[in-house]
Amino acid sequence: MLQKIGEKKEESESLSADKEYAASLCVPHLPSRLHALRRDALSRGIPVMEEATLQYLCVLLAALRPRRILEIGTAVGLSAAAMLLTCPHARLTTLESDEKRYEEAGKNLSSFGLSDRVIRHLGDAGEILSMMDGTYDFVFLDGPKAQYGRYMSELKRLLPQGGTVFADDVLLFGWVSGRTPVPPKHRLFVRKMRAYLDALSRDEDFSTVVLDVGGGVALSVRL
Ligand SMILES: C[S@@+](CC[C@H](N)C(=O)[O-])C[C@H]1O[C@@H](n2cnc3c(N)ncnc32)[C@H](O)[C@@H]1O
Repeated sequence: MLQKIGEKKEESESLSADKEYAASLCVPHLPSRLHALRRDALSRGIPVMEEATLQYLCVLLAALRPRRILEIGTAVGLSAAAMLLTCPHARLTTLESDEKRYEEAGKNLSSFGLSDRVIRHLGDAGEILSMMDGTYDFVFLDGPKAQYGRYMSELKRLLPQGGTVFADDVLLFGWVSGRTPVPPKHRLFVRKMRAYLDALSRDEDFSTVVLDVGGGVALSVRL
């Protein structure tokens, strides 16, 4: 029994060493100004994506070359700018509920010369989504994590066959898998995220894989 526990512990330590090593090799080829924007946002406590996730997102987009991208959770426009710079023929619609971040994202996207390829909406993503129509071939889901399940039913309507949903931070801090204890105030969020992942992996309208990249990514393709 003790030997088995020891083996499991060694296995999980080497898994996280592999994850760290893999992350150290993720160097997004993006303008240095964008890296500076990321560092500045982090220094002000604004949640922006991890470098490994950013690199994974950009590699995937370079392969998929979507024309219409929808983002939920603009923050200050870092991921929006990265996606548009990676996909020069794409247009992006992005939703943000925080007015200050919404304004700042506008300035940042303009400074990269991207304003004419972006539609920005200020407000609650759930409400805006329910009023949206048209189709999107790539959705970057990076807004309030507890709402992912609710958004997915709206997204189904907006995604054509082959459309992709990239949901970030689905494994947050090892809480969702149970690897690390969940602080009491985050228990509801963890329950909702587990329910979302469970429903998504069983949903026959999607083919889904969950990857241990950055804070965890659920990648789903509409069938
Ligand atoms: C993780 S951040 C987005 C980071 C951004 N995608 C990036 O990597 O540059 C999540 C954002 O979602 C926004 N948000 C939270 N609740 C929201 C809601 N109900 N509707 C729209 N945006 C929301 C937050 O204000 C925050 O800026």
